Amino acid sequence: MSLPDHRVVFTPSGRRGVVPAGTTVLEAARRLGVDLDSVCGGRGICGRCQVTRGSAPGFGNETDALSAPGPTEIDYRGRRPLAPGHRLGCAITVEGDVVIDVPVESQIHRQVVRKRPELASFPIDPLIRLHYVAVQPPSLADARSDVERVISALEADWDLADIEFDVTALATVHDCLVAGEWAVTAAVHDAKRVLAVWPGFHDTLLGLAFDVGSTTIAGHLLDLATGDVLASAGRMNPQIRFGEDLMSRVSHVMMEPEGAAAMTEVVRNALDELAGELVAEAGVARGDILDVAVVGNPIMHHLLLGLDPTPLGGAPFAPVVGSSLDLAASAVDLELNPAAGLYVLPLVAGHVGADTMGAVLSEGPHRRDAMQLLVDVGTNAEIVLGNRHRLWAASSPTGPAFEGAQISSGQRATPGAIERVRIDPVTLEPRIRVIGSEIWSDQDGFDASVAGHGITGICGSGIIEAVAELFLAGVIASDGTIRSGPDRIVAEGRTHSFLLWEDPRLLVTQGDVRAIQLAKAALYAGARLLMDQAGIDSVDEIRLAGAFGSHIDPKYAMTLGLIPDCDLSRVSAAGNAAGSGAIIALLSAASRHEVEEVARNIEKVETATEPRFQEHFVNAMAIPHARDPYPQLSTAVKLPDRAPPVRRVRRRSREESR
Ligand code: FES
Repeated sequence: MSLPDHRVVFTPSGRRGVVPAGTTVLEAARRLGVDLDSVCGGRGICGRCQVTRGSAPGFGNETDALSAPGPTEIDYRGRRPLAPGHRLGCAITVEGDVVIDVPVESQIHRQVVRKRPELASFPIDPLIRLHYVAVQPPSLADARSDVERVISALEADWDLADIEFDVTALATVHDCLVAGEWAVTAAVHDAKRVLAVWPGFHDTLLGLAFDVGSTTIAGHLLDLATGDVLASAGRMNPQIRFGEDLMSRVSHVMMEPEGAAAMTEVVRNALDELAGELVAEAGVARGDILDVAVVGNPIMHHLLLGLDPTPLGGAPFAPVVGSSLDLAASAVDLELNPAAGLYVLPLVAGHVGADTMGAVLSEGPHRRDAMQLLVDVGTNAEIVLGNRHRLWAASSPTGPAFEGAQISSGQRATPGAIERVRIDPVTLEPRIRVIGSEIWSDQDGFDASVAGHGITGICGSGIIEAVAELFLAGVIASDGTIRSGPDRIVAEGRTHSFLLWEDPRLLVTQGDVRAIQLAKAALYAGARLLMDQAGIDSVDEIRLAGAFGSHIDPKYAMTLGLIPDCDLSRVSAAGNAAGSGAIIALLSAASRHEVEEVARNIEKVETATEPRFQEHFVNAMAIPHARDPYPQLSTAVKLPDRAPPVRRVRRRSREESR
């Protein structure tokens, strides 16, 4: 006599069907294509299959619609505790019409929830999955190889086909089977290749995401199954001792035959040390790390991979390789699981890097209708404009002024640097805030709050605010000239400076204003060139990526004319969007295909050869701009009258800028 059939609905997927009485919930989920996790294959070990009772119209809540707890549930002691009200999907059977809810922790393709502002929600799509199998030991009647035994079990228990063994897994499979009493957990890549095996049940699978910047390197350790960030750390890029900026590092390679190898070695060591720091902080083993994703600008990308960066130092900036790369992590000397892979995101071009593609993946302009301008400001501004229909990318030689270089009192954004500036439009009295202190200079306790590090200089965001505030106060004309005036305006030969701070004496000089004008004009001109390509005069939203982009106040950036006019409420910081892109690529196989496709289709605009760049650049030298009326900014800020455009300004080449 056949068993009666029962209706089952799974939420939140809404998948439904009919299964015979006695079918386990895990099996019902598989039959109906429901995303219910499992590592142990239904043996009541892993605890990944937890479900709860749900509700839907037409379904009652009969307690006997699911089987009562049996020994597997009662004795369950797995690493993932059984949450209150949860049942083990592999241990319970359908005994009546029932609605089953699959909580987010039990979904394989769960959504990573936006925990930090810079990491958007995205579905995890694991490239590597763990599968537990138990096999019969060899006997005279069954003398198949260890590998055959494991492959048959993977095919039978997990519906996998055409499985292959990686050579590193071959080396350990026998010992693991013996140690695990003929049960192992296999890490299977893309449902095809066994990368690693562990004795018995093992449910830790980790990955690393790196953003290799020219100044800093950031690393994150993640659980590949849950998407949880287990540890994050950063450190200075040790290549700095070979050259502060990118171009000086390329020059070093040109002059020193061993220079590239030395820089490759130090950056690889830094990554490996960072990996050590991350596993120590999380209390996990390096051997559990099976995947790594990396982003970086083209020169960092080439130096990490041991490729010659010198072609990137001058036109036509042709990279050695631009497509994404799937390598072994050991190829860059990372000491992780011997089978660990390394995914390097694609470059857009020789001067628009994998960091930009990481930012694109994270910000997703190609998934949106709004025309988004995505800007990562560094010594070169990398700029992407577009929406779901088309994307354009360019890099523009802004030079190091935004990082505090070429500014008379400039410095990096470290404690002691002035990062916020307000100027009283009547008295011209400045107020400042300094990195390392939350207190403005006119508030009680300011002196004590900066006593630890003092006031040491002005960082990029500070100089932008100072110049913009001086423009709004009428001290700086639209053409960038510091006008003569009372007390705080100091005559220096034929030009003037503004005394921003007396002790220590910190001035905003005419040269500083010119350096900022050159940098911001280059950025604006690059953005404007992309807007020409798109045939638009304004953008719907602007995202400012990178450390500098996170610190500048959109109002001042726009007042200066660093970015085009836009509704100020739609201009925002994107944080470390490049690093977020590396995390997404690590956790989602689909995102890798996505970023590769976008990189193939993105239209590159070469600022060095575009004739209109110079015209845009000259117009953008004025504050905020010689011709653009900035109507949306004008509703938020009272802009002073503007002077005619400045002429005969030579723009900096990209080579000079780096
Ligand atoms: S599938 Fe592992 S405990 Fe249920």
